[in-house]
Amino acid sequence: MTADNKPSGSRRDFLKTAAATAGLAAAGTFVPARFAIGQQAKVKVGLMLPYTGTFAQLGDAITNAFKLYVAEKGGKLGGRELEYYVVDDESNPAKATDNVNRLITRDKVDVVVGTVHSGVLLGMVKVARETGALLICPNAGADEATGPLCAPNIFRTSFTNWQPAHPMGKVFYEKGYKTAVTITWKYAAGEQMVNSFKEGYTKLGGKILKELYLPFPQVEFQALLTEIASLKPDCVFSFFAGGGAVKFVKDYAAAGLKDKIPLGGPGFLTDGTLEAQGAAAQGLLTTLHYGDGIETEINKRFQFNYAKTYRSRPDVYAVQGYDAAQLLALGLEAVKGDIGARKNVIKAMEGAKIVSPRGTWTMSKAHNPIQDIYLRRVEGVENKVIGVAWKALADPARGCKMT
Ligand code: PHB
Repeated sequence: MTADNKPSGSRRDFLKTAAATAGLAAAGTFVPARFAIGQQAKVKVGLMLPYTGTFAQLGDAITNAFKLYVAEKGGKLGGRELEYYVVDDESNPAKATDNVNRLITRDKVDVVVGTVHSGVLLGMVKVARETGALLICPNAGADEATGPLCAPNIFRTSFTNWQPAHPMGKVFYEKGYKTAVTITWKYAAGEQMVNSFKEGYTKLGGKILKELYLPFPQVEFQALLTEIASLKPDCVFSFFAGGGAVKFVKDYAAAGLKDKIPLGGPGFLTDGTLEAQGAAAQGLLTTLHYGDGIETEINKRFQFNYAKTYRSRPDVYAVQGYDAAQLLALGLEAVKGDIGARKNVIKAMEGAKIVSPRGTWTMSKAHNPIQDIYLRRVEGVENKVIGVAWKALADPARGCKMT
């Protein structure tokens, strides 16, 4: 186990390490050689993720699991050790371009892994398209990244916002719920998930009574919960995640709505949050590409090793981080560590079939996972998989023209 893979729990540790690394590099005392001097040079990995704010825990889970996979491989991918350059993006789209440029231009990383927030990802995608930098997204679902803005150097190991939201329309409609209200943050992820749910739900005959929004990352839900109570829909579709999801699910129950109007949505609402949500989350139905009770060897090993290393339960974010490392490994192995052999790295990643804790998934032509979306029900501190809501669901990748 390397120092990087000790149970961290502390974002400050990451940031301290990053600052120290950056400081040394800037002082000229530590300039890692490129591949030219052989397989000893380390692959530079830029981790651009949120380590503060409402998505902090998500950034930690992705980082932890990425490093867990590398540790399981003896600290090397494709024969080369990795060196991390870490940036806390604060889930702030206004700083996205500067932050990613710092990694690409100043630190000269070989690959950028990030991020969680769709708005920040769009900034990173813009720079990746301009510079050709290799980008692996381990969460943010912005449809454009593997849609109209798709590119050979941009990959995702998570989902599009369209993907996990879409099956919820079918789930709610088949339960006999004819009217719905939606509630989410007003930014790309919230809007795209609502649109995807709406597309599936209204096609079947469901009716959206109202779309409710509040600015990201606000959590003052009271007025909107009062409005939901007066609209009296058959169900409520919602996207929140991280700290915001904890508060929303608790406030929904506290407002007396939980037993009156069924609440559901993409599984981010209850993933990595159940210990904090407690009774307020019990029984909620969600759809997502991971869940508890997937009885495969790899999932059991992943859950065991993650819990042993980090003293917490892995969630969907951890799985996506683990798979980001798996995808990079695949690319590096194909070129025996020579990440400069870009065409072949990309070719290997394009053909990826990833044996993941979530189940085996394949890479779509637009560079996004084709994967099963599970139906889950909250039981205790678990999102129990109770069925497959949609088998091998591929994002429609509207507007993607890979050049
Ligand atoms: C996003 O902004 O794309 C996003 C953030 C958190 C999630 C899911 C999607 O849990």
